[in-house]
This record gives sequence, structure tokens and C-alpha cells, in this order.
Amino acid sequence: AHQWRGVIREYADRLPVSKSTRVVTLGEGGTPLIEAPALSQLVDGEVWVKFEGMNPTGSFKDRGMTMAITAAVEQGAQAVVCASTGNTSASAAAYATQAGLTCAVLVPDGKIAMGKLSQAIAHGATLLQVDGNFDNCLDVARKLSENYPVFLVNSVNPNRIEGQKTGAFEVVDALGDAPDYHLLPVGNAGNITAYWKGYQEYSRPYTNPHPGAAPAGSEPVELPAVATRTPTMWGFQAAGAAPIVLGHPVTEPDTIATAIRIGNPASWEQAEAARDESGGMIDSVTDDEILAAHRWLSAREGVFVEPASAAGVAGLIKHHALGNVPAGKRWVITVTGHGLKDPQWALRNADGSDVEPQKVPFDVVAVAEALGLS
Ligand code: F0G
Repeated sequence: AHQWRGVIREYADRLPVSKSTRVVTLGEGGTPLIEAPALSQLVDGEVWVKFEGMNPTGSFKDRGMTMAITAAVEQGAQAVVCASTGNTSASAAAYATQAGLTCAVLVPDGKIAMGKLSQAIAHGATLLQVDGNFDNCLDVARKLSENYPVFLVNSVNPNRIEGQKTGAFEVVDALGDAPDYHLLPVGNAGNITAYWKGYQEYSRPYTNPHPGAAPAGSEPVELPAVATRTPTMWGFQAAGAAPIVLGHPVTEPDTIATAIRIGNPASWEQAEAARDESGGMIDSVTDDEILAAHRWLSAREGVFVEPASAAGVAGLIKHHALGNVPAGKRWVITVTGHGLKDPQWALRNADGSDVEPQKVPFDVVAVAEALGLS
């Protein structure tokens, strides 16, 4: 029986590896592309969600981290560092552990979901809470990696983008071609950069500048195009942390979607390129719209994500209401991380009050009554 071998082995002929590369993998990628019936009905089209919460550490970061840590090991690294709103730190800590590297993570003061913090700690990372926001953490992490013997594994590391572009490959492999539109949340803007790179590379003949899966010393082969086209890219930032939408950095980003609480994205220009080259847009969604989309995904599609992950769905619902969503199209929305990482939002009602479980005695009739059965 075939077992998915992780994104590096599955897509070696399109990644910066060679036959002799020691692959650090937890079997990431191969995540479900799920048809969303309620959203499809809403927009009178075909809506699919790429459920990245199904990766080994519960977010899309694992696609990039397998490549970043594999490359770091190949280059002789002993230690890695990252800045993180939570998911990157969980992923870096896990992959560094398998590789036998030490891992330092810099997280903003407060506003990190408990599930993510506990992952980084469980995997033995040295966790430092920096008195500042994510952008400050990334600034320190970059300077640290420039001045000390430690490799940076944030998405400014091109290996991260290489690994994450496999998300686009999987969508095309599953659907047979690129969708009409691809929607996703935007924080530090690495993922929109990676998807756009992946869609572009899959839509034209590609020659891997690295030896890929081929035996050492063999001639590079040109791979044929897999897709006939590229999608229109729609990215969504949280309204309180929407620098690309506003056109300037936000010094005090604020949103309940802590994963994308970022005021000065590192891949800003690449995100704009993805938007402009695809004829797409980068827009913002409010925290209320994000929470409504989060609720929609769990209560109507059966998909449990963390709030930031619902930003793409929030964008689709918003633009449907604005009349910007044509009928009869195929939509793919990346939902980026698992709901179990930050479960508190499911325990709140739409009006903000706490969800209280109804108490019943251990009695069949009472339970039946409480369930409205007769
Ligand atoms: N969704 C989730 C769940 C994330 O954790 C992130 C980024 C994004 C979306 C945005 O992706 O940065 O590539 O535009 N989280 C980073 C972290 C910043 O530290 O875990 P992006």
C-alpha cells in the first residue's frame, strides 16, 4: 500500500534537493481538499477548502519547514531560530527535534494561542517571549541569524517558500487543473507568495535548477506543464492588521486572529506581485467577519480551523455580499491551521456570551426530553 511520503519526496523533481539529500520529514502535505457544500450553494459554484490543519503540527507551515530544516542540515546548521505568532514555532520545534538541531523561538508578548505554545515547549524549543509584536520578533531573529551561528527558518528563507509551493501542486493534482480563484489569509505574506510560485511553475514547462530526484551528475530534464492556467489570487488580511490594503505598515496591529497579527509583512512585494500578476486583490476582513466564517466552517462544513484560517472564507462571503463573486466558478480556499490549536473561539456564542453545556440527570427520559425526542 502506498503511504504519502511528505512533500519533499513527493515533489523532489521540483524542489532544491538532490538524491543524496537527507530528508527531514514528518509526512507533511497530502492534505484533504474538501468540497464545501454550503459555501458552494451560497456562491452558486464549486468551493473547495484545502484543510492545512491536517499537517503533522496542525498548520501549512510544515510544508515549508520540512524544506527549511532539510536545507539547514545540508548546510551544516546546529541551531535554528524563528519569530512566530505560534504556528511557525510549533513547526520549527518539531522538525528541528527530528533533525537533532536546537531551536529558539521568539514570540510576541501575549496573544499566542495556548495550543501552539505548548507544541513548541513539548518539542523542546527554547521559547523567548519578546517585549514587542511579531514584526519586532522577526527583526531580532533576522539580526540574530546574521550575527550568530543560527539559521533563520521564517518565510524570508527561500526554502520555506519552495516547500510551501507544493500546496498549489496538490490542488492542481487533485482537480486536474488550477481553479478559477484561489483565496487565502495573508499575514507575513509567505504563503500567498508560495502558492503563486507553485501555480506559475505548474502552468509552464519547468526545469529544476537543482538535481531534484535525479541521480547525481545526470542532465536536468524539462518537466511538461501540468496546469493549463493559473488562478486569480485573492488574499485577506485582518482589518486591524492590514498594511498591504492600507499601503503602509501598521505599528500596532490588532486582531483576534493572532496568527495574522502582523503590521509589516516580510513578503509584502511578492504578495503584491501575486495580486497584480494574477489580476486578483488583497483586501481586509473584520474580526466579526472572521469569526462568522470560522463558525460557518465548523457548523456548516464540518471543518474546524483556528480564526486566522477562516480569513479566506470570510473574504469570499464578504465579496459575495458585495456582488463580486461570479456564478459557475471553481474556488479553492486554503484554511491554514487546525481549530484545536486555539479552541476558545468555539466556546463563544455569536453574541459573545460563553457556551454553557446544558446539565441533565443520568436518566433516559430526562436526556430524551432535553434532546426534544418523544
Ligand atoms: N494562517 C495561519 C494559521 C498562520 O499561522 C499564518 C502565519 C498565516 C495564516 C499567514 O500566513 O504569514 O504566510 O501570510 N503565521 C506565522 C507564524 C506568522 O508565525 O506562525 P503568511
